[in-house]
Amino acid sequence: MRVALTGAAGFLGSHLADRLIQEGHEVIGLDNFVTGDEANIAHLLDSGAFRLIRQDVSTYIDIPESLDYVLHFASPASPNPASPFGYPNLPIQTLKAGALGTLNTLGLAKALGATATRLVPVRYTTKPNVLLKRSQWHICAFIT
Ligand SMILES: NC(=O)c1ccc[n+]([C@@H]2O[C@H](COP(=O)([O-])OP(=O)(O)OC[C@H]3O[C@@H](n4cnc5c(N)ncnc54)[C@H](O)[C@@H]3O)[C@@H](O)[C@H]2O)c1
Repeated sequence: MRVALTGAAGFLGSHLADRLIQEGHEVIGLDNFVTGDEANIAHLLDSGAFRLIRQDVSTYIDIPESLDYVLHFASPASPNPASPFGYPNLPIQTLKAGALGTLNTLGLAKALGATATRLVPVRYTTKPNVLLKRSQWHICAFIT
């Protein structure tokens, strides 16, 4: 299978890329490195089964070849308000990766007839600026 994986240089994305490649699949990783680290994927770059596209997924994505899956894992993810890389300090980037990134990855999947999955932790509360405990998170995977 050929898989487009956004957030490939992140924690989840890089481990998923490792696993997919171990299982014989081809991975096209997309990342803009806003929170990711090139060291997470350095070992994959010469594998022949991994290609990197440096791109912000909130912009139009064009991959002119066939794809079986589009997996959207790109987003600032740390809830730590003290971290400059946490989403409390990257609200616009987080919103754009979630909204526009989902739109663009779904558009890519639709154009190429691929299956798309978005992993989304939904942390909702009636009190603004209150971070929920991990046990209160609700994790949804949208599959289309
Ligand atoms: N780590 C967890 O325990 C966990 C649990 C549930 C859900 N999630 C969700 O899974 C996703 C990945 O989490 P993670 O822990 O791997 O985070 P991470 O910060 O390690 O990785 C996210 C990757 O996405 C990239 N990225 C962010 N915005 C981008 C954009 N606009 N365009 C291209 N690349 C962009 C970052 O550079 C980074 O490499 C996030 O949506 C996160 O909320 C994570």
